[in-house]
Amino acid sequence: MLKDKVAFSKQTLCQERSRIQGLFDFLKGRACLGDQFGVLLSLREFLKNKCKVYGEIGTYHGASLIAGIQRKEPCTFVGIDIFDGRFYDRDSEVPVTVDTVKENVDRCNKHGHPYFLVEGNSHDIETLNKVKALGLTFNLFLIDGDHSEDGAREDFEMYSPLISPGGFLVFDDYGIDAWPGVKAAVDSISFEEKGFYMHGACGTTFVVQKECS
Ligand SMILES: C[S@@+](CC[C@H](N)C(=O)[O-])C[C@H]1O[C@@H](n2cnc3c(N)ncnc32)[C@H](O)[C@@H]1O
Repeated sequence: MLKDKVAFSKQTLCQERSRIQGLFDFLKGRACLGDQFGVLLSLREFLKNKCKVYGEIGTYHGASLIAGIQRKEPCTFVGIDIFDGRFYDRDSEVPVTVDTVKENVDRCNKHGHPYFLVEGNSHDIETLNKVKALGLTFNLFLIDGDHSEDGAREDFEMYSPLISPGGFLVFDDYGIDAWPGVKAAVDSISFEEKGFYMHGACGTTFVVQKECS
């Protein structure tokens, strides 16, 4: 079983987060700035060229995808979101749509990495099939969409088979009072039975890694 421990620390989280914060000054909409940025960027640093495909459920205005797209190593990005405008930023009133996210990503995609925005409820089989049709498996995957217990668990059940051996899966908002469902879902999953090694909580994220064999 692969037990590559990634050296997370509060300092790393803060450094990575402040490094990217300026990126979002001109974002149309909002970045949900949390520990997911530091964790994802630390994992990208750890994986280096081995992160060929990044995916996420819950793209919002694109910030988490944009943070990763800054690195120059070749990588394909997949953002899955409902993208129908029902979610929006209350301050700017910018809706979460494919057009908004595309505008944000294109402005920041300085290395011209390929990316796909998959529109749909992650729990619908049609959405999963759209993702499968891309023919990709993920080296790094963020679950940051439906924060209910059933929703987060279902995202894991449906999308974890698409994680490559050795790939990392990150749940955002673990242990946050506002989103008790995420912790309840994560704590209820038998990761080892599903072939995942638990790195555990890191700030307000929870990190697991698919075994290599
Ligand atoms: C917390 S935001 C994501 C923040 C983003 N990852 C970031 O770091 O900036 C949650 C997003 O999940 C999306 N979402 C919620 N439920 C979903 C579902 N069942 N399927 C797909 N997307 C969903 C919402 O539209 C919203 O954009």
